[in-house]
Amino acid sequence: MAAKSKVPPPVDSLTRSQARVEHKRLVLEIEAHNERYYQQDAPTVSDAAYDAMQRRLEAIEARFPDLVTASSPTQTVGAAPARGFAKVQHAVPMLSLGNAFSDAEVAEFVERIRRFLKLGADDIPAIVAEPKIDGLSLSLRYEHGELVRAATRGDGFTGEDVTANVRTIRDVPHTLRGRDIPAACELRGEVYMLKEDFLALNKKQEAAGDTVFANPRNSAAGSLRQKDVAITASRPLKFFAYAWGEMTDRPAETQHDMLKWLRDVGFMVNPLIELCSSVEQVLQFYRRIGEQRATLGYDIDGVVYKVDRLDWQERLGFVSRSPRWAIAHKFAAEQAMTILRGIDIQVGRTGAMTPVARLEPVTVGGVVVQNATLHNEDEITRKDIHVGDTVVVQRAGDVIPQVVSVIIGKRPRNAQPYVFPHKCPVCGSHAVREEGEAVRRCTGTLICPAQAVERLKHFVSRLAFDIDGLGEKQIQEFYDDGLIMHPVDIFTLQKRDARATKKLRDREGYGDVSVRNLFAAIDARRKIELNRLIFALGIRHVGEGNAKLLARHYGGIENFRSAMAEAAGAQTDEGNASEAYADLNNIGGIGEIVANAVVEFFAEPRNVKALNDLLEEIEVLPVAQTRSDSAVAGKTVVFTGSLEKFTRDEAKASAERMGARVSGSVSKKTDLVVAGPGAGSKLKDAEKFGVRVISEDEWLKLIEA
Ligand code: IVH
Repeated sequence: MAAKSKVPPPVDSLTRSQARVEHKRLVLEIEAHNERYYQQDAPTVSDAAYDAMQRRLEAIEARFPDLVTASSPTQTVGAAPARGFAKVQHAVPMLSLGNAFSDAEVAEFVERIRRFLKLGADDIPAIVAEPKIDGLSLSLRYEHGELVRAATRGDGFTGEDVTANVRTIRDVPHTLRGRDIPAACELRGEVYMLKEDFLALNKKQEAAGDTVFANPRNSAAGSLRQKDVAITASRPLKFFAYAWGEMTDRPAETQHDMLKWLRDVGFMVNPLIELCSSVEQVLQFYRRIGEQRATLGYDIDGVVYKVDRLDWQERLGFVSRSPRWAIAHKFAAEQAMTILRGIDIQVGRTGAMTPVARLEPVTVGGVVVQNATLHNEDEITRKDIHVGDTVVVQRAGDVIPQVVSVIIGKRPRNAQPYVFPHKCPVCGSHAVREEGEAVRRCTGTLICPAQAVERLKHFVSRLAFDIDGLGEKQIQEFYDDGLIMHPVDIFTLQKRDARATKKLRDREGYGDVSVRNLFAAIDARRKIELNRLIFALGIRHVGEGNAKLLARHYGGIENFRSAMAEAAGAQTDEGNASEAYADLNNIGGIGEIVANAVVEFFAEPRNVKALNDLLEEIEVLPVAQTRSDSAVAGKTVVFTGSLEKFTRDEAKASAERMGARVSGSVSKKTDLVVAGPGAGSKLKDAEKFGVRVISEDEWLKLIEA
């Protein structure tokens, strides 16, 4: 495929110095990709592109052997273990496999084995053909049949200790079954995730505003390498065994019998594995598996051929980082060219806007592809995508098709660069990107139909309105029937039901009693604490803790609402110069990101309207000041100068505990200025507005009183 604009010169034509320069560049590039793939579970190139880089590096080193160093990626596997998990030394290194991309290379692999073993002309070694599972490899150490340690591959020599995580995987036996179990053995295989489980997990992640994984492999890796084991336990990880490291005894003489033994002792072994006796047979296996690939349920990226006799495996041994007795026959990346007809924006349930490519239908690896993900705004810019372009489409890990690149030479003259919308296509609210975030999000939290159900479920959740008999299931049903579309609808349900011809009590699962109970439960929540209300609004970054901070600071809904209206009115792309914003940003524990999210929420008039409508139906209880009897309760205090008796954060916390509000600037609303040495302009302001100024000691006395 002519997707690349620049074809590198053949390695044979490189001068020594050109080779040295390119070698250095490739090493750095491959190391960076290794880091992204192995440690961050977030690769940025296709496997095919990565393999091409690795092959080119190998070719350069073959021609200029003095460029090879011990740390070259051709001599190492993967990346060094990431921080956070203990290191584990593998008793036998976990090496990688060489690749074959064509039938001829497979035939050459078998030929090499025959030559090495000095077999006769018709003597073809038996070969086990296995699907190459696209997950992450794991080494499991058993002592006297008990699982004692599980480790990731890491750099092949040292991996990460993931024992606690692995113990949560059902396919991994804690105790090996049967007699004659070797005293110590390292059993190896692949952790993976079923495609349907991956899609379901991503849906859940998206709904919760958490990381969405690019493919099942990343999802499996990300799920396994969790510091919180409970998270791993909640993820549907699976495991196929196919290899081993150290073994104090060997229970079988062939690869095929070893796989049978692995099954007998309690492992899942891939059911498609076959014992082959000719090159034709292994190639037939490759084609058959290739055809089944899309329907397998899990991702594979090729097949692996292994010499069956273990004594021959031993004789054949290893060349640098991979065995001579095995090879991976990779599937060609499934790519195709087509035309990009348009770009649509999909809005997720938390407001994330994802660009989707609408394509001229094209068959990629046997499946018709019409849509492909473009990931986010930056990806579109980085790939320089114009509507009308001819693009290369790939089915990544067989699941989500993606646009890989653009063929610039085929660009129509009038094609325009794509401009990512700054408004939500579903509800028209403005959409914002936080600093350092790739995703642009709709701010119509309370009113956007794309977000509505999720927001309503949050609204009634335990730490928010927590209404008995109105959980996620009921919210979904009432939403689907058009009965509850906005938060206020919950509180007008009874009134509307009285007028309705189709009554709630006639719904399936309801009766007079349950409807009465539901209305009573709703009524019981017509009085709600301010912190619960703020949390219920579902503002990004405003969890239970931040909601409390805001509620304590503003004290009552009116105060909060008017301050936010003032801040929202002053919001611009360049910043926010209002006093209300400075005050918000100054609340101890509320950073700029949270402050901006709150202001963006209030900058969308329809959110404000939805809140106002709600406030017509409910009564918001002011948050009790922590010390309403203190001398500073209800006062607005400003700290200035270099404080010597306490830190600024301590000052804020103590003031708020005593029921005071802390502000960052002096105005006529300020009651008290606490000045340390070197106080400047704020002191002048205090004079100007006639505000009382006290020293740090005086402040301490005041709050002790
Ligand atoms: S054998 C010494 N068999 O592929 C070689 N590997 O590119 C031991 N893989 O690190 C590996 N399925 O993560 C082997 N049936 C299979 C495999 C398999 C997937 C992975 C494994 C390995 C990588 C090598």
